[in-house]
Amino acid sequence: MSTFTFTDNRNGKSAEFPILNSVLGADVVDITTLNKELGVYTYDNGLSMTGSCQSDITYIDGGKGELLYRGYPIEQLAEKKKYLEVCYLLLNGELPTAEQFVAFEGSMREKRFPNEGLRNLFNAFPDDGHPMAVLSSAVSALSAFHHQHLNVQSQEEYMDMAIRLIAKMPTLAAYTYRHHMGYPLIYPDMDRYFTENFLYMMRAFPTGSTEISDVEVRAMDAIFTLHADHEQNASTSTVRLVGSTGAHPYAAVVAGINALWGRAHGGANESVIAQLEMIGSVENVDKFIKKAKDPNDDFRLMGFGHRVYKNFDPRAKVLRKLRDELRDTLGINSRLIEIANKVEEIALTDEYFVKRNLYPNIDFYSGTIFEALGIKRNMFTPIFVIGRTVGWLTQLIELKKDPSQKIFRPRQRYVGHTKRDI
Ligand code: ACO
Repeated sequence: MSTFTFTDNRNGKSAEFPILNSVLGADVVDITTLNKELGVYTYDNGLSMTGSCQSDITYIDGGKGELLYRGYPIEQLAEKKKYLEVCYLLLNGELPTAEQFVAFEGSMREKRFPNEGLRNLFNAFPDDGHPMAVLSSAVSALSAFHHQHLNVQSQEEYMDMAIRLIAKMPTLAAYTYRHHMGYPLIYPDMDRYFTENFLYMMRAFPTGSTEISDVEVRAMDAIFTLHADHEQNASTSTVRLVGSTGAHPYAAVVAGINALWGRAHGGANESVIAQLEMIGSVENVDKFIKKAKDPNDDFRLMGFGHRVYKNFDPRAKVLRKLRDELRDTLGINSRLIEIANKVEEIALTDEYFVKRNLYPNIDFYSGTIFEALGIKRNMFTPIFVIGRTVGWLTQLIELKKDPSQKIFRPRQRYVGHTKRDI
């Protein structure tokens, strides 16, 4: 077994720690006995150097700009597979056969309807409340309607719980939106595919027909796939942390939703459009790039940079292509695209961004696509929630199945007072 040696130069004491091989990417040093051996903890602000679990779901090579779900490149999945096939892949480890897919999709259609009582909850919220606040409350409330599933023990129960949540999330997100707009809530349509049904619930009215084109369904489906999982990001780590305490799956997913809301995470897509609006015209781009580079200004270029990708985010590449395809078909707001293209052109060549490996991320492009699909800005992050729910649940199931998994309990470097008397 290969080992890694830590030496404490203060006293010359050293200890060896096993190196655990990874299938792809960097190997890891198992330091679980570090404190026992040397009396110290590690300090890793932001946990960017720390592996908190072992996982066989998703692999990211940030340097190459590569993202694999269960070994399959994200570009191939987004182009060749439906989102629900990707859900099956994540949950089960393999892509479904045609028969498996029919059964999986069918089981999900039945579960799209939340309990009728839950509809009343939406009326309790002010209509100008942020949809993320309402959505997280609705998912939390779901646990009261499915309390028999709170203590999930078996593989079958896990799968049932995952299917229920994935199936209901678009309905809850659409109800959230309809309430916000003051529109009547629309029941799910059992005859439509998952993604088409979501667009239908967002758009339809109790009377009249609802137009949803194939190109819109394909674009939204690809967006769900691109957001489905991203290994140990902030919201997924939150889900795992809450899950590790023995809290029920709804509580863990609600925590993930709230973590995703932050503007440094899933909330960035909303901020990107707000920032493009603020820039206002192509002529102003230089001024804002200068602000982003100023060390005394906390202004950041939203949609640029990523903790893991130090290259083009592969999801962003797929979305850029999709956005360009949609531009002519749907008449995307071309003023915002012109500004976005100018920002991208300058940032990709400017020394400040190049030196720091700040490339466009998924959020830089998703906003303009949502705008083209007629989706209101404060619904961008709830849509991210719909896509990511399968990732959170797959990771939670993996955590629950791992007998070696402990409650997450990091340490700290204490810098406060020494003991003192009143
Ligand atoms: N604009 C300008 N400068 C930036 C940006 C940016 N968007 N992002 C990072 N930098 C600079 C920092 O100021 C820092 O410069 P310095 O070395 O001179 O101090 C350097 O690049 C490194 O930045 P960190 O904050 O250390 O990078 P980190 O990996 O911690 O942050 C993050 C990643 C949070 C995504 C950051 O790049 C950011 O805030 N981006 C804008 C928000 C955004 O788009 N978030 C979406 C992420 S994708 C997702 O969650 C789905």
